Amino acid sequence: MKIIKLDATESTNTFLKDLSRTDIVDDYTVVWAKHQTKGRGQMNGSWQTEPGKNLTFSVLKKISGFQLDQHFMLNMIVSIAVFRTLAEFQIPKIKVKWPNDIMSGSKKICGILIENNLVGAALKSLVIGIGLNVNQTVFPGNPKASSLFNQTGQMYDLETVLQRLLQNLKLGFAQFETGPSEDVFKEYQSLLFRKGIASTFQSGNGKMFSGIIQGVSDDGRLRVQLEDDCLAEFDIKEITLLY
Ligand code: BTN
Repeated sequence: MKIIKLDATESTNTFLKDLSRTDIVDDYTVVWAKHQTKGRGQMNGSWQTEPGKNLTFSVLKKISGFQLDQHFMLNMIVSIAVFRTLAEFQIPKIKVKWPNDIMSGSKKICGILIENNLVGAALKSLVIGIGLNVNQTVFPGNPKASSLFNQTGQMYDLETVLQRLLQNLKLGFAQFETGPSEDVFKEYQSLLFRKGIASTFQSGNGKMFSGIIQGVSDDGRLRVQLEDDCLAEFDIKEITLLY
């Protein structure tokens, strides 16, 4: 895998998208920056971390074998790869908060942003952006964030963690390409944060309600058993899990 190391860039996702517009970029090309000046998160949010202490990188995945409607599959494969890596480093209580926040206990330690890489109207490839908090100790104004260091008391070599993440990503894609997709679903569902536990949610219009996460649908909607025992499905814009 080719790794392009940068001291600083706006966003590794943006860098990799721009690069693939002008260059021929191989599958699994990685852009890793010590510092992002305009890191981007899900739902148009930002991703800000202390320079030099964490992993912020993006991986280019060619879409052969993937269709746009399999976006959620990709999401599951990446979440599982992060989970497996953190399990190797014995990070405690790792779960995946739907759709793809990686939690240790009740703290978020990793975020994933997968973007379509379009050239004109054509989908060329996917850019998988991963922000993993590794050695950062304080998260001002963000009490729900944490890092590997805060969860274990140990410092980690960033490159060692990155290499394991990349290997697990590659292995995850290879397993998907050769094995049944049900395996991916099964593993992902087993990792769901607060699955089977009564939880409070907020709907898109701000209303709160209670329910129990049961799993995800084939197209990646969250299945929640409501108080009247009905099973409802929600997409990301329709629901927020409060915890
Ligand atoms: C989230 O909101 O949870 C997703 C955060 C994704 C952050 C990563 S860091 C590397 C890549 N480049 C970005 O600008 N964002 C992603």
